[in-house]
Amino acid sequence: MKRRALAFAVGAAVVCLGFDDGGGKSLREAAQGAGLLIGAAVRSAQLSEAAYSSTLTREFNMVEPEDALKWEVVHPEAQRFDFSQADQIVDFAARHGMKVRGHTLVWHRQNPTWLAEGNYTSSELAAILENHIKTVVGHYRGKIFAWDVVNEAYDELHPGTLRSTIWRDQPGIGLAANGASYIERCFRWAHEADPQALLFYNEAEAEVVNPKSDAIYAMVRDFRQRGVPIDGVGLQMHIANLHADVASISANIQRFTALGVQVHITEMDVALPVDALGNPRPEDLQLQADIYRQIAGACLSHRLSYSGCTAIQTWGFTDKYSWIGSHSKQTQGAALPFDRSYRAKPAYLALRNTLAARSAIQ
Ligand code: XIL
Repeated sequence: MKRRALAFAVGAAVVCLGFDDGGGKSLREAAQGAGLLIGAAVRSAQLSEAAYSSTLTREFNMVEPEDALKWEVVHPEAQRFDFSQADQIVDFAARHGMKVRGHTLVWHRQNPTWLAEGNYTSSELAAILENHIKTVVGHYRGKIFAWDVVNEAYDELHPGTLRSTIWRDQPGIGLAANGASYIERCFRWAHEADPQALLFYNEAEAEVVNPKSDAIYAMVRDFRQRGVPIDGVGLQMHIANLHADVASISANIQRFTALGVQVHITEMDVALPVDALGNPRPEDLQLQADIYRQIAGACLSHRLSYSGCTAIQTWGFTDKYSWIGSHSKQTQGAALPFDRSYRAKPAYLALRNTLAARSAIQ
């Protein structure tokens, strides 16, 4: 109680005195103080660009390969793995004291033709998937601390049901003798390959409480009850229209963390309308900053010691390299905390100051 009162007093003083400028800290320092991982998705080809790598190492303590661990890159032929791009990122992270999240072992997209059009039987496919998961997780054992084991398995069109994919039913990998679903089998294989790694289920459009997140919640609860090795849920957080129902996102984070799993915000960006030159409106930059601030606040309010909402990651960090775009002839862009010249945007300040205010009262 006393500690809380002190924390409140210090927090109030910070606000009253106007020391909400982050105390001159970097985002990375602010996150460290708040006990949170702050990450960005990265592209290996850009690591040699000085402004890219210096901004990354100054501002983030975690990275995730944006594409380098997807099947089409890491497993381009049936009998050949190519770890070169992901190795570069993992080595870079090690040199700069950053953690690495792995993304992703099982997805219905960005699969190579040999796999997608291979006409394998269920048992062949199961053997291929088990070998893939064990080879990739094994290669990075002790180096990648958390994996998105399965990505986007739930359907958009039929809420609450599993999407029809090569893994589920085209032809699907079949059920284990005990009837375990394909998702469960993947988590067990990943756990065998690296028992220390944290294993996440990652999903899009399940940030709020909705039929999709309800289905994921039921799955995670069942996994926890039956001892299936799942440690966390990744909420992607691609926000496309300057609207985020933060109360519902917060309630969703709360219910997952109450199951004893961690929540990571894994792919945050907030797309803005942009003009013909790729530039957003100044007022939209402020609205965007407010969303970043509120999402960071929702994560922090469910940050428990060693669990809860433990990481915030953006999908890229500079508008120069973003899957949303932000270049001429595109209508949406400017979604990340740094602009195309690596200048900090209001979104950056909002994130940094929210985390710094938390670290000031801890
Ligand atoms: C995107 C990458 O950013 C692009 O470079 C790639 O061309 C397509 O995939 N959800 C995910 C990510 O889980 O893997 C996707 O990444 C974005 C949506």
